[in-house]
Amino acid sequence: MLEIAYPILQGGMLWLADAGLAATVSNAGGLGVISPMAGMKPRGNPIKNLNTQIAKAKKLTDKPFGVNIPLDLRDCGLLMDVIMEHQVPVVVTAAGDPHLYTELLKSFGTKVIHVVSSAKHARSAEKAGVDVVVAEGVEAAARNGFDETPLFSLIPQVVDAVKIPVIAAGGIVDSRGIAAALALGAEGVQLGTRFVAVKENIAHENYKNAIVGTDEAGTVMTLRSLIPSRSLKNTVFSQVLLGMEQARASTDEIREFMGHAASRRAGLEGDLDNGEAYCGSSVGLIREILSAKEVIERLVDGYSAVVKKLQSS
Ligand SMILES: Cc1cc2nc3c(=O)[nH]c(=O)nc-3n(C[C@H](O)[C@H](O)[C@H](O)COP(=O)(O)O)c2cc1C
Repeated sequence: MLEIAYPILQGGMLWLADAGLAATVSNAGGLGVISPMAGMKPRGNPIKNLNTQIAKAKKLTDKPFGVNIPLDLRDCGLLMDVIMEHQVPVVVTAAGDPHLYTELLKSFGTKVIHVVSSAKHARSAEKAGVDVVVAEGVEAAARNGFDETPLFSLIPQVVDAVKIPVIAAGGIVDSRGIAAALALGAEGVQLGTRFVAVKENIAHENYKNAIVGTDEAGTVMTLRSLIPSRSLKNTVFSQVLLGMEQARASTDEIREFMGHAASRRAGLEGDLDNGEAYCGSSVGLIREILSAKEVIERLVDGYSAVVKKLQSS
């Protein structure tokens, strides 16, 4: 359906998923995905930035690529205009109502994928007409669902709830994870954290090195009742956030403290103490900064080995 060699998606990453990374992933046979604010200055214009990123990706690859639109971003409609103008083949929407833009995007021939964290939301997305859902478990980096359902439980329940294909996301970093996701009924996978710690990612070295140096206990869910997010544990930020949550700070107070600037501070500026360094819970499996192409090659080669092992057992 997506016209890619391997069912491996590179997840949208707010400040980090730029044209260079997306094109490398697409050229390696996966689906690279661009985020509208990738590499942008703090007060930049996401509409202009997206325009530039798409034009750049088109120069770097003739393979399909996608754009990720968190539907709670301001000016979503204008971002959709840019997508349709450029006839981007795939859009991955998240964090909002898939009924808003799916019909319009599909009328332009774009395939629409929507990220969900429950079977209920998967059913609703299917009704809205999306082509594929990403079932994202609580293991995932960045924003999470309120129910905090682990991927092992989520995949089969979403698969049983809808007729459209399901892609699994959250805590998948190697071929064992892919084999497990496919065994549970998923038809593909989306990886985020693994594609932060790659040479082509514009993320700050401090962030990449922190990923490589962190074990399985190194992530924390903050703001569980408000905007659940999984990040690297850091002394200042998680304590401040956990404290604010425990002190029952208002949504507005917390949003003002965090905004999107906090993830930029960690991701692009490398300030891991005062920023929000999104990170999935399988971080302990990432021990090397590879190229994105090597990541895809290892996932594909390793998958055959895992399947062989399963067949012989
Ligand atoms: C730095 C970072 C930023 C992210 N930003 C977004 C985003 O803007 N939109 C989105 O839909 N998902 C976002 N995600 C989630 C990923 O697209 C993906 O679903 C998730 O990382 C999968 O879990 P994993 O990190 O364990 O592989 C982000 C992930 C990371 C690591």
